[in-house]
Amino acid sequence: MRSTSRNARIRATTSSLFTAPVCQGDGRGHIPPAKVPPEPAYTGRVHPRDDAPRDPPGTVRPFVTPGDAPAPPCSLASACTETTAQEDRVTAPIIEIRDVSKRYDDGPPALAGLSLTVAAGEALAVLGPSGSGKSTLLNMIAGLDRPTGGGVTVAGVRVDELTETASARFRRERIGMVFQFFNLLDDLTVLDNVLLPAQLLGTGRAAARDRAVELLDNLGIDRHARAYPGRLSGGERQRVAVARALMNRPALLLADEPTGALDTASGAEVRELLAELNDDGQTILLVTHDLALAESCATRTIELVDGRLARDERAATR
Ligand SMILES: Nc1ncnc2c1ncn2[C@@H]1O[C@H](COP(=O)(O)OP(=O)(O)O)[C@@H](O)[C@H]1O
Ligand SMILES: [Mg+2]
Repeated sequence: MRSTSRNARIRATTSSLFTAPVCQGDGRGHIPPAKVPPEPAYTGRVHPRDDAPRDPPGTVRPFVTPGDAPAPPCSLASACTETTAQEDRVTAPIIEIRDVSKRYDDGPPALAGLSLTVAAGEALAVLGPSGSGKSTLLNMIAGLDRPTGGGVTVAGVRVDELTETASARFRRERIGMVFQFFNLLDDLTVLDNVLLPAQLLGTGRAAARDRAVELLDNLGIDRHARAYPGRLSGGERQRVAVARALMNRPALLLADEPTGALDTASGAEVRELLAELNDDGQTILLVTHDLALAESCATRTIELVDGRLARDERAATR
């Protein structure tokens, strides 16, 4: 049973999370591209613009890239109304994957002609045996890796066509990521970990601090603001990671086995938190082996087998 007061607090935190991206639309469900610099024509080369080597496939980098120049924050369209936001929440596709294939070297395809549309407001759980392509799919959506065929559109942006720099900026502005092992920076306090995405985005200090304090408060970890992550339990660390992921009001929250390293009680807490965030409209895609997580949080479950969609079910209830 979810606590009403917690729900109210989450709602207070997240009410603006979802209006930010959707309010930039044209009122008919269309979400324009994030503010990224103009791209040169896509040449088909992996690095149209820079010579920096990509991470090895399968590497999941921090969702922010220290050293990148801060980008201006997303702005709200002035004519936005709450009604439009709620309508768009239900209808606007956040993820559109069209016939995506990914092949590594000579092996069998990690993804084999996969198509998938995820609407704003869905909580999608991706299940499947080891090696079925789940992490590959997540990497494609986050723009951390490129398909060998097909196209990936996230919040109106063809992420498979972005340069690495634009891709990093896109992640900073529109995507929050939560990992199995938290990926917090141990030599920064909890508060500074949560502030980091806003600093990299160039958000003003006062506004960023207000947002971080609000998130920590609403996620029940405000008393740890000055502590270092090493002092916290696994469940608390994952809450910090969720707060950090929400800092820039992402259009999409991606989670890779978010309960995979947690004990039973902490896992239950994180499941409840993710369900509450989705109740309030946050679009979530999570990869998990945790059936309880899929059952308690997901509005829809897909299963991958050999890089193909083997099942696609909407939850009758959650
Ligand atoms: N960097 C890589 N190089 C070669 N093969 C890879 C790489 N990453 C993944 N694969 C292969 O792609 C397939 C899908 O992997 P992955 O997406 O990690 O599956 P899952 O996350 O479902 O366990 C597997 O056969 C795996 O061996
Ligand atoms: Mg995996």
